[in-house]
Amino acid sequence: MSGITAITGSASGIGAATRKRLETEGDRVIGVDVRDAEVIADLSTREGRQSAVKAVDEQSGGRLDRLVLSAGLGAHVRPPSRVAAVNYFGAVDVLDGLFGTLQKGADPAAVVLCSNSAQMMPMDDLPYVLALLDHDEGRALKVIGEADDPVLAYLGSKHALGRAVRRRAGEWGRAGVRLNAVAPGPVMTPLLQGDMDDPRTGQAVRDLKIPLGRIGRPEEIAELIAFLLGPSGAWIHGSIYYIDGGVDAEIRPDRF
Ligand code: NAI
Repeated sequence: MSGITAITGSASGIGAATRKRLETEGDRVIGVDVRDAEVIADLSTREGRQSAVKAVDEQSGGRLDRLVLSAGLGAHVRPPSRVAAVNYFGAVDVLDGLFGTLQKGADPAAVVLCSNSAQMMPMDDLPYVLALLDHDEGRALKVIGEADDPVLAYLGSKHALGRAVRRRAGEWGRAGVRLNAVAPGPVMTPLLQGDMDDPRTGQAVRDLKIPLGRIGRPEEIAELIAFLLGPSGAWIHGSIYYIDGGVDAEIRPDRF
């Protein structure tokens, strides 16, 4: 593709695999992470997100071609408010903060890492999800802190993120910036390992029935992300792509 791509969560897992995949095509990647990245920033805080946006804008020369939001924390991470802060606000603030920079890029596109777990329980009107979508960080962190439920923190953050992507399709499309999400199932990364090792989440992950019979690899998710970002995805916009070995289809066969 050969352009400039920013990737949050570039130091590990899906973000690192996406970096490698895009670099082999000639992209220059600006990684954003708490470690091992061109831009070191903590996306759990408002200041960290602002400094990340500023640094990416500067390092890209004010013109960004592609953006991947992969930084995230698993359902095993405590406190749950940290999961909400990184997974939702750490994605949406960077996305919105770089909208103008993307508009100046060439055939610009962005991909957000959602999750196939985002629809696994009814969450449409949960106070936590509504607070996220209202972009009320204080309220969202308070609600999920009081619930003290890291699994809900994770599922709700990804559910709201999917809706945040779809809500932006009109404005972003008319501005010429494509925006999509991928919704992976279990992929072998440190995040999944953390979920598997945790007594509260480990059994649920191990009990997952995967029709294709195995856990996914980060490179397989990177392949879909590269497709969505590149010329083959030129008419794909506002969509959420499941990539989960068939897990979602088996759990919710009659809904899509
Ligand atoms: P990972 O743990 O391998 O990588 C996550 C990266 O995010 C790490 O490099 C980490 O340092 C960075 N990060 C965490 N907190 C941060 C912060 N406060 N500021 C900046 N960077 C921070 O995880 P993985 O599996 O590659 O996950 C990537 C994305 O894919 C996440 O959003 C995750 O929710 C999503 N996902 C992963 C699945 C899986 O089974 N691995 C399944 C579905 C979605």
